[in-house]
Amino acid sequence: MATSTGRKKIALIGSGMIGGTLAHLAAKKEMGDIVLFDIAEGMPQGKALDLSQCGPVEGFDAKITGSNDYADIAGADVVIVTAGVPRKPGMSRDDLLGINLKVMKSVGEGIKNNCPDAFVICITNPLDAMVWALREFSGLPHNKVVGMAGVLDSARFATFLAWEFDCSVKDVNAFVLGGHGDTMVPVTSYTTINGIPVNDFAKIKGVSESRIDEIVDRTRKGGGEIVGLLGNGSAYYAPATSAIAMAEAYLGDQKRILPCASYVDGKYGLDGLYVGVPTVIGADGTEDVIEIELSDEEKSNLKVSTDAVEELLEACKGLDSSLA
Ligand code: LMR
Repeated sequence: MATSTGRKKIALIGSGMIGGTLAHLAAKKEMGDIVLFDIAEGMPQGKALDLSQCGPVEGFDAKITGSNDYADIAGADVVIVTAGVPRKPGMSRDDLLGINLKVMKSVGEGIKNNCPDAFVICITNPLDAMVWALREFSGLPHNKVVGMAGVLDSARFATFLAWEFDCSVKDVNAFVLGGHGDTMVPVTSYTTINGIPVNDFAKIKGVSESRIDEIVDRTRKGGGEIVGLLGNGSAYYAPATSAIAMAEAYLGDQKRILPCASYVDGKYGLDGLYVGVPTVIGADGTEDVIEIELSDEEKSNLKVSTDAVEELLEACKGLDSSLA
């Protein structure tokens, strides 16, 4: 137990829109005491104070503090990293590589020095490269560092399908593999509507294949759609909800099977890459990667996506010699 109260400790690195939303969700769920960290002075303290004052209204009991000092994340059980810069309309996530790589270096060192036993969930973009770099900079074991992407991408796919079929989103089990870029791979062959394969369900409902293809395409570009609408920032509610589901799976040893950017070494023909795959999350962090059978087309789509991630890793190595 990390706190003097015996409660779990959740450190949130970055106190922007996602950080604040994460803190609110974690507090509402009483997941533990929360440290909101940011280099911007006053910002994490102000948000922590504001959020603390929700407690009496909402009836949650969580100590929420703000800090500019990495020492305050000492002993955290879970660290969720949102630090860095979001993209603006017209930018790709990859355009953030240089600036956010530097941020991951100081975050990684802060984690290494203060909470080397934590389970670390990275949200910063470009996600697959940043989670890899964060792992390298922090030196934590691969099973304790993971990226939040597949849960979010699958939730987007599920939402669009539920709208199309006019059915409850609770009955849609959607599934997205690969990197968290526009080449991600929504996998229709493993997507079901209450157990009915989505393509069969589409036939029953008279929805054409081309309409499903449009939904797949919208899912791939789902982050950019929100960036375009917001005008100055990127999505935060669904990314935060997704990361909280992953944190709960770890803290509760739930053994959930969630699509996450996990370290894959051997499976899917990959050689030491962080990329979105079905992952068992429990008390040991990412406990297993599930390798599913893919069609030739799905395999080749996954290859395009993982090649794009590999290219980014090479770019990271070129930008920071300690990664080479
Ligand atoms: C998302 O998918 O919402 C995030 O990766 C943010 C972004 O830039 O799209």
